[in-house]
Amino acid sequence: MLLKPRFLALVILLWFPLAYSQSKPVDAEGHQWWQHAVFYEIYPRSYADSNGDGIGDLNGISSKLDYLKSLGVDAIWITPCFPSPQVDFGYDVSDYENIDPVYGTLADFGSLEKNAKKRGIRIILDFVINHTSDQHKWFINSRSSRTADKRDWYIWRDGKGPEQPPNNWISTFGGSAWTFDSKTGQYYYHYFYPQQPDLNWRNPAVHNAMMDVTRWWYKRGVAGFRLDAVDTLFEDPDLRDNPVLPGINKYGDPKEEDKYNTKLPEVHDVLRDLRKVADQNGAVLIGETWTKDVAELKPYYGEHSNELQMPMDLMFTELKFSAPIFRQHIAAVDASGGWPVYVISNHDIVRSYNRYGDGQHNDAMAKVMASLYLTLRGTPIMYYGEELGMENNDPVRKEDVKDPKGRLGWPQDIGRDGERTPMQWNDSPNAGFTPGLPWLPVPASYKTHNVETELKDPSSILNVYRRVLVLRHQNRALLDGDYVALNENDANVLSYLRRYKNEAVIVVLNMSAQPQEVTFDLASQGFATKTARTLLTTMNPESTEGSLSHMALDPFSVYIGAISK
Ligand code: GLC
Ligand code: CA
Repeated sequence: MLLKPRFLALVILLWFPLAYSQSKPVDAEGHQWWQHAVFYEIYPRSYADSNGDGIGDLNGISSKLDYLKSLGVDAIWITPCFPSPQVDFGYDVSDYENIDPVYGTLADFGSLEKNAKKRGIRIILDFVINHTSDQHKWFINSRSSRTADKRDWYIWRDGKGPEQPPNNWISTFGGSAWTFDSKTGQYYYHYFYPQQPDLNWRNPAVHNAMMDVTRWWYKRGVAGFRLDAVDTLFEDPDLRDNPVLPGINKYGDPKEEDKYNTKLPEVHDVLRDLRKVADQNGAVLIGETWTKDVAELKPYYGEHSNELQMPMDLMFTELKFSAPIFRQHIAAVDASGGWPVYVISNHDIVRSYNRYGDGQHNDAMAKVMASLYLTLRGTPIMYYGEELGMENNDPVRKEDVKDPKGRLGWPQDIGRDGERTPMQWNDSPNAGFTPGLPWLPVPASYKTHNVETELKDPSSILNVYRRVLVLRHQNRALLDGDYVALNENDANVLSYLRRYKNEAVIVVLNMSAQPQEVTFDLASQGFATKTARTLLTTMNPESTEGSLSHMALDPFSVYIGAISK
């Protein structure tokens, strides 16, 4: 068919803005906005409480936008703030298209979005796609009868026999993954808590409804989604038993390999469809992607880069604080072909301050980590409070635990309350988070590790984050340069170049408790110079000369310098 030229022009005109919105580069290298952006995860319950009920809220976040801007944050990912019975603190959504009253209203969201945009900060929402709350109207309908309209929106099966679930699958939060519903005499499937029934993604109506949810939020100015639990979207249609492994897990269930209920290939069809809608809106998709090796990350980007732009490398959170271990992992991720996404903790993982810390040099080690993941080639996602050196405040008695899996698994699994405590704004009671009683207690370290106090100390963790982020936003080599490992046999000092055309930044991190001396010969990298211009160091700046032929490093210290040809 031949199109009339005028009609063709119209088609091109209408199509162009859509295509353009997904591919508009922000630099000469063709990078997209999210490749230059620094992301910051906010657990809204714990960020800032504007109305004194002890729970953070959207207006609280709005009141902290200037702080986020001055820190150097370009996009905030807000963990679920939708209506929810809060069994899993928001990861049990009962309405995808509204805001939970505890966090505010849609109007509050609108003003947060507007005020963030004014400051150039984008908003990423958390899309819980594997399951809803059992209080979602879809599930209420689904469980009402075997012939209900939405029966097939969830996964219902007969038991194998009396009191016998359909198969041996166990929930990752403990117990069978099947719950019997006496009203209709069948079991429903839930990979997580029983209050989080899995959606049936094989049903096209579910598929369409969920795509529509993303459109609904894009219209309200959302710049993308962090996709929760993408690995568990599909189950084997034959419900084959999972292979049982030796031993018992922390909830007392036999261990098993989640062979037939995770990472099914159909997941990628859904990611591709979500991406199509995202592309029409210039949006980014971040994935909660748990992998065992770097090669497993690759498929999440999609064969034609048409799935997730940003699958999180969560393996990074499992590495030991050691130069050779990080060197090896970074090299593998950097060479894997996808745009790296670096994360050092989140709301499910013990805070990096405790994980890496040796109990003696934790502050210095936190500065080393900041200087590492914020200067690599790739996009970093910070977790609120990392920038202060916030530490875990773990419950010591079972009766204090709020996270249900902590009560179920106590004391082997104490739950995730420890890493979700209130943001530490100042040294007043409850760290200035709330005038009321905070939903979780702040750790004693809030007296020293808080925004107000740290802002006054040029060498605080917060000020190191702020300075590294300034460099990251302004320095061409840090924005666009490649990654070149240096001194690859050094067991203690991790060092590398970020190299862009005639310039480079050299990052030198002493990851050991001893002083170290290093020498760099950068001739083979095209840089004949013997000195660097210091951009940032955690050592005494006067005594740090930037000599590449002989650099002395304090224990757990950072040197970042600029060099040119
Ligand atoms: C993801 C979330 C976690 C939640 C789970 C179930 O792993 O990060 O917090 O409990 O999904 O939705
Ligand atoms: Ca509140």
